[in-house]
This record gives sequence, structure tokens and C-alpha cells, in this order.
Amino acid sequence: MKTAVQEDLFDKIVSLCKRRGFVYPGSEIYGGLANCWDYGPLGSQFKKNVKDLWWRTVVQERDDMVGLDAAILMHPRTWVASGHAEAFSDPLVDCRKCKQRYRADDLEPGAPCPQGGSHDLTEVRQFNLMFETQMGVVQDETSRVWLRPETAQGIFVNFKNVQTTSRKKLPFGIAQIGKSFRNEITPRRFTFRTREFEQMEVEYFVHPEQAEKAFEEWVQARHSWYLDHGIRPENLRLRPHDPDELAHYARGCYDIEYLFPWGWSELEGIANRTDFDLRRHAEYSGKDLDYFDPDTNEHVVPWVIEPSGGVDRAALAFLVDSYREDTAVSAKGQEETRVVLRLHPRLAPVQVAVLPLLKNKPELVGMARKIQQDLRRHYLTDYDDRGQIGKRYRRQDEAGTPLCLTVDFTTLDDETVTVRDRDSMQQERIGLASLRAYLDEKLQI
Ligand code: GAP
Repeated sequence: MKTAVQEDLFDKIVSLCKRRGFVYPGSEIYGGLANCWDYGPLGSQFKKNVKDLWWRTVVQERDDMVGLDAAILMHPRTWVASGHAEAFSDPLVDCRKCKQRYRADDLEPGAPCPQGGSHDLTEVRQFNLMFETQMGVVQDETSRVWLRPETAQGIFVNFKNVQTTSRKKLPFGIAQIGKSFRNEITPRRFTFRTREFEQMEVEYFVHPEQAEKAFEEWVQARHSWYLDHGIRPENLRLRPHDPDELAHYARGCYDIEYLFPWGWSELEGIANRTDFDLRRHAEYSGKDLDYFDPDTNEHVVPWVIEPSGGVDRAALAFLVDSYREDTAVSAKGQEETRVVLRLHPRLAPVQVAVLPLLKNKPELVGMARKIQQDLRRHYLTDYDDRGQIGKRYRRQDEAGTPLCLTVDFTTLDDETVTVRDRDSMQQERIGLASLRAYLDEKLQI
């Protein structure tokens, strides 16, 4: 078996996503809405698995982390305090001729309009990326609110609430997953850069003297998370920011980058944000946001380490990395290609597919249905009785399903099923009595 090198990999993935119900163009029946995407039945489960895995790793399995689910709409002063109202902008230029808009930093100095070749570009202007909307029935300046451009600020403004109710001592962190919105000038590359997206963010509060150590630990932990869940090491790298790249509040920052089909691009950033945010919110709200250390009787404004990743970007990287076209010689001596998503079993939208060998044999169908019924309380399952068994395996391979169970006449006699492995395509017979233990091990539950 050999794995083909995919030159047009990205187009194939976009097409597979549409064909198999991972991702559809948004509002498609109305001709679509630029760069908005809808996750279908397989995609929504897959994306939920990405978020669940993240939550499990950063909250459930740690003593020093708690969760939060803050509102998307926040008091407008939040964004003044955070600096977004004034400075969350990208430089843009317009072409006066074709009306296209570009990020100025995407164009070489003095370059013509990429669309029309015209040189009639406007001066560079700063364009604020926050979406504005009105709250309530009266539309005036006081009713103006913004859709949050990052989930982080919901955590900062709740720092005191969370610390006092959870009684956490430093160091501890708050995790949140949620939608963010940015009016990107050039959204592109499928779900990589969109105007509506989801973030998974941690704000980890530490004593200033522990900040450097916590920063290094989070960089390693987040890098390992992608590798542990299937990203190939040669496609992942850590890139420290140059001093002139750093945000005004950051003392240090690493990007975790993935080698997408178009090149290395950011998956997640880990920043040392110092005490900038808590100090600013204390100043703008007039509320005390420091931490009283009962061990030293000291008041301290914690520093913050922030691992901030995109759900959609992580999902896209997992998809790209798992995509394979394998060629194998069939029993009849013919060379066949199969498309397979080698997703980590915890990420796969279907973990176990149950297939009765024949659809028109009620005893096989009844047994297969019963097995699926038993398994679905523990795993993500599917049931498929349409077409030849080989075709059904291929369909499950394309969806990333790690294991297929086939129910045949032997099952009725001796209560065993054939379990077929997605990656090795090996089959083995497993007794129903030991099936749960077998699946738990194979699926790394
Ligand atoms: N709180 C820090 C923060 O928001 P960021 O680097 O602007 O930092 C963090 O965003 C992550 O959010 C990025 O690494 C990326 O994964 C994701 N992200 C940012 N903008 C995005 C967009 N327009 N579309 C999809 N994901 C985006």
C-alpha cells in the first residue's frame, strides 16, 4: 500500500467536506454569503469533538482550571479598556477603479491592484475589525454595542467573580469556548479565516514571578496537544514572535503553526499578556481586580498567560493532516484508490459503524440494530445497510470512522462480529461479551 502525494489536496478536502456533510457554503440556497460556512451532520459532531477534547485536556484533567461561558455582547466600555475600540484595526487600501478592498500588508509597496492591474489605489486607512450593532429599541449612540472580537475579555471582566466563587488560589486559569466576530478585510481559504469563528481560550493567572515558567509550560502543553491527537510532527512548528511583531501588551508570544497546503500558518498563539488587561479593566470600571494572597498577606495584580486557539482552524488542520489517498491491489489484482481520513478516534464523528452483511435478512438486521442500540450509549455510532459491504467500508473510511462491525450469519451462531480497522484494513472476530473492552482500548476511551 502506498500513499499518494496530493498536489490539489485543498480542493479535494473542500469537495469532500461538501459531499459528505462536513462543511457547506453558508446560505447556499440564496447564492451563499461570502465566506460564511455551515457545519453539516458529520462536521458539527467533528467540531464538537475538537472542543470536547480541548475542554477535557485544559479543564477536566487539571486541578488549576475552571470554565466560563460569558455573553457575546459586552458593555461597550470593555472594548475601550481593552484597546480594541481604538486599535483593533487592519490597514486597508481600496482600488478606485474596480472597488476591490485589500489589506495593505498583503500588497508590495507600489504594487498595482491585483484584480484589475490599475495603479489607482487609495492611501492606506485603518479599518476597525469589530462588528457594530444596536441594542434595544432606540437606535442612538448609547445603544451601540460590538460583537466580541475575542472571548478573552469575557474572562477578564469575570476574574473576580470566578476567583471568589471557585476559591481558587494563584496560579489558576479560566477557560472558555465561544464565537467571536471580526470584519476581516480578506477572509479566505475556506474556514481558515472567516468573519464569524469560534475560539478556545485560556487566561491563566499567575504571580508575576511565575509568569515566565507558566508561559513555557503552556507553550509545551499546547504544542503537545496537537501532536497527541494526530497531527504529524513534521507539519507542526513553534515560532517565537519577533519583538516588533508583539502586541503592545505582550511580553512574549509563540505561534503554533501548521503546514497547510498553502504554507505555514497560525493555528494558535500563546502570549504573556502581563497585567495589562486586569489593570486596564480596574482603571476603566473603578473596581478592584487584584488578588489577595492569604499565604503572604500581599495584594497582587496577577499576570496572564494566554493560549488562544481557533476551533475552526484546529478542525481544518486535523482534517488536512488526516486526509490520505491509499492505493492497494484488490483480491482481483486491480489497483484501487481509497480516500481515508485517519482521524484520531476521539475526533472521528463516527467511532463505530454497525453493518449487517445483508439488508434483506431480518435476523441480521435485527441483530445489527440491537448491537448499535447497546453501543450508542457509549460511542458515536452509525448504522449502514446500503450497498455492497466493500462500498460501505469506503464510505466509512471517507468519514474517518475508525472501526466497522459486520454482523453476519456466524454472529447468529456464536455471538461474534467482524471488526474491520480503518487504517490497517485488517479484520478480526470479536465476541460480543468482550466487545466493550475491545472498543474502549481501540478507541482510546
Ligand atoms: N485573545 C487573543 C486573540 O484573539 P488572535 O491571534 O487574534 O488572539 C487567536 O486569535 C486565534 O483565533 C488564532 O490563532 C486563530 O486560530 C483564531 N482566529 C483569529 N482570527 C480568526 C479568523 N478570522 N477566522 C478563524 N479563526 C481565527
